[in-house]
Amino acid sequence: MAQDTLTVIDNRTGKKYEIPIVDGTIPAPELRKIKTSADDFGVMSYDPAFMNTASCRSRITYIDGDKGILRYRGYPIEQLAERRSFLEVAYLLVFGELPDAGQLAAWTEEITLHTMVHENIKKLMEAFRYDAHPMGMFLSTIGALSTFYPDAKHIGDITSRHLQMLRLIGKVPTIAAYAYRHSLGLPYVMPDNELSYTANFLSMMFKMTESKYHPNPALVRAMDVLFILHADHEQNCSTNAMRGIGSSHVDPYSALSGAASALYGPLHGGANEAVLVMLNEIGSIANVPAFVKRVKAGEGRLMGFGHRVYKSYDPRAKILKQMADAVFEVQGKNPLIQIALELERIALEDDYFVSRKLYPNVDFYSGLIYQAMKFPVTIFPVLFAIGRTVGWLAQWEEMLLDPEQKIARPRQIYVGPAEREVPKAIVGAAQTAAR
Ligand code: ACO
Repeated sequence: MAQDTLTVIDNRTGKKYEIPIVDGTIPAPELRKIKTSADDFGVMSYDPAFMNTASCRSRITYIDGDKGILRYRGYPIEQLAERRSFLEVAYLLVFGELPDAGQLAAWTEEITLHTMVHENIKKLMEAFRYDAHPMGMFLSTIGALSTFYPDAKHIGDITSRHLQMLRLIGKVPTIAAYAYRHSLGLPYVMPDNELSYTANFLSMMFKMTESKYHPNPALVRAMDVLFILHADHEQNCSTNAMRGIGSSHVDPYSALSGAASALYGPLHGGANEAVLVMLNEIGSIANVPAFVKRVKAGEGRLMGFGHRVYKSYDPRAKILKQMADAVFEVQGKNPLIQIALELERIALEDDYFVSRKLYPNVDFYSGLIYQAMKFPVTIFPVLFAIGRTVGWLAQWEEMLLDPEQKIARPRQIYVGPAEREVPKAIVGAAQTAAR
């Protein structure tokens, strides 16, 4: 069968090129063949924010942004959120299939055995200022883990890779909870291995003087679903960071610390925090029209709205909007929900948002749920990072095992000065510098 090709005629030389089209993409290195002379570098593609560039082949997550579809390993997110636990979904993302009963029991036990952190990690976390942002504490501590597990550098060894994955998935809730307790001056709570992954996380967060913490099952389920919804999202900013850093063959703790840093930004995982700040600033339903007017005038963004890939309602936001009621039933209504609903109503009818296909994303409702569950705003991005750790790890391993991948190293278009000569030193300056 004839291969699909793209015919390119170079007007500079009159030459004709056949560029193969594979999986709906053209291999960018093929463009290098388009050159004006033998010593010409050839044509490059220019795509500063990866607007139309696939950086990998992946079997993990599928998104159809126009139709609002999200699937992990082929399974619709709605079904996973309704029928499975976070640890089952974590297994699915890492290994490609849902676990059977035996595999799930072994996986759960292995992760549970890795929930504790070294005592020196606690000391390290204690060194942060009382008002340190928990996400700053989280990402620094994750990076520091590489010094505790130097064996993690053996990234070519599958046993070592999987051990680091168990450690990371097991320890991220502990580190997240310690970061939170630190900000309140509360003692750190040891992991309780009799509890489920998510119930244990709530115990480490909220346990006070009681001998055993019994979280409300509805809240455990809500938190579990939140972890599932955040577990992966194909080549987003932080996952791209994980793959990019990991492509240098550094250990996964260092790479994951970088991914968490990317997540921290307000245009990415920091948006859930920014949504709450925005809703508080708006203050009341009466102020919503004026706020929307300001956004339309370019004075700020409607946080929790818009997405690079989704050009329709984010399916995760749909699930969260429904789940909010279940949480509010237990915890009482978050008063900000009325402002959020009004904001959504006005935005979805307004031509500015409609024409730009700006819909609520996952961060629009997650913050309201977290707040109703009594999480402080600053911990929101850390909660996101707990769930996303699994996706980062699955993507990292896929990248390492992909024979097409090399160290990630984009090209650039140099627009700085042409070669010029350094002027002679100002008399005396060179000597002063040398002293
Ligand atoms: N509020 C108002 N206008 C917006 C918004 C918004 N939230 N998002 C995009 N726009 C407008 C832009 O101003 C631009 O308008 P223009 O064409 O008149 O200049 C147009 O829509 C396209 O926006 P871009 O910035 O080009 O879109 P991009 O794909 O680069 O950005 C992003 C996506 C960063 C998510 C953006 O929509 C945004 O900043 N949203 C708010 C922050 C947010 O909620 N981030 C969380 C994303 S989900 C996640 O990471 C988990």
